Amino acid sequence: MRKILISGASRGIGKAIALKLLKEGHSLSLGVRKKEKLINTPLDPKLNNPEKLFIHTYDATDKYSSKKWVENTVKAFKNIDTLIHCAALFKRTNLIFDDNEMLDIENLWKVNVMGPWILTKDSWKYLSMNNSARIIVLVSMSGKRSKGNLAGYSMSKFALMSLCQTMRNEGWEKGIRVTAICPGWVNTDMARDINYFPKLDMTQPKDIANICSNLLQLPNSSVPFEIAINCQLETTN
Ligand SMILES: NC(=O)c1ccc[n+]([C@@H]2O[C@H](COP(=O)([O-])OP(=O)(O)OC[C@H]3O[C@@H](n4cnc5c(N)ncnc54)[C@H](OP(=O)(O)O)[C@@H]3O)[C@@H](O)[C@H]2O)c1
Repeated sequence: MRKILISGASRGIGKAIALKLLKEGHSLSLGVRKKEKLINTPLDPKLNNPEKLFIHTYDATDKYSSKKWVENTVKAFKNIDTLIHCAALFKRTNLIFDDNEMLDIENLWKVNVMGPWILTKDSWKYLSMNNSARIIVLVSMSGKRSKGNLAGYSMSKFALMSLCQTMRNEGWEKGIRVTAICPGWVNTDMARDINYFPKLDMTQPKDIANICSNLLQLPNSSVPFEIAINCQLETTN
């Protein structure tokens, strides 16, 4: 069983992954902005497996937040061997942006790129210790091709994909294996305003949770680096 940190576990894909992995018996440390969001839910440690479920505050816009989360998790679990990055922002920003959109672009960069980068950096020495650590990153098809007026989001996800490649390169000899999961639309709050495509035809969060569960069963020699998940025909892959 693994000792896993999951960011963005308060809802959406992160929450679905947490529910699945908790059921399978892994120890989970969930980084969330507001711990009270999990009270009286199946991810409330008071109601479910307190020795295997640890909740900590984590805000990707605060560069000191992940260090406290990681260090307190290591105190609680003695070790960590898996990191699952789900926290992110989605915002449409035009290529020819105005002053208000500049702030949105800066926030996309901070949360979607610097957040996972700093969290990985703060976890690295622990992940390096056990020769079979895993890092799963929710990137996006927007990290592989650009569509519509998603300049800021897509830029952040291309940058995140580049970070995934560097994590893979630098972690390889230490037994760290990295998987970048690249879905199109997934039926969560993030896709709430998408009306041109039925929600039930989107990828469902529980299906991504199943993929993560399967990934964690693979040996170092068989972990895929990239998984593109298409709910619509993509012409570029
Ligand atoms: N849904 C899609 O169509 C889709 C497609 C491709 C890739 N993805 C990627 O999949 C991942 C999960 O997305 P989702 O669909 O589950 O999104 P979601 O339902 O909107 O959830 C986003 C999560 O990120 C957290 N978050 C946002 N800002 C944060 C911050 N500053 N610090 C810490 N946590 C923060 C949220 O916490 P709060 O509850 O506190 O706001 C929430 O838990 C993201 O990386 C997303 O880019 C999603």
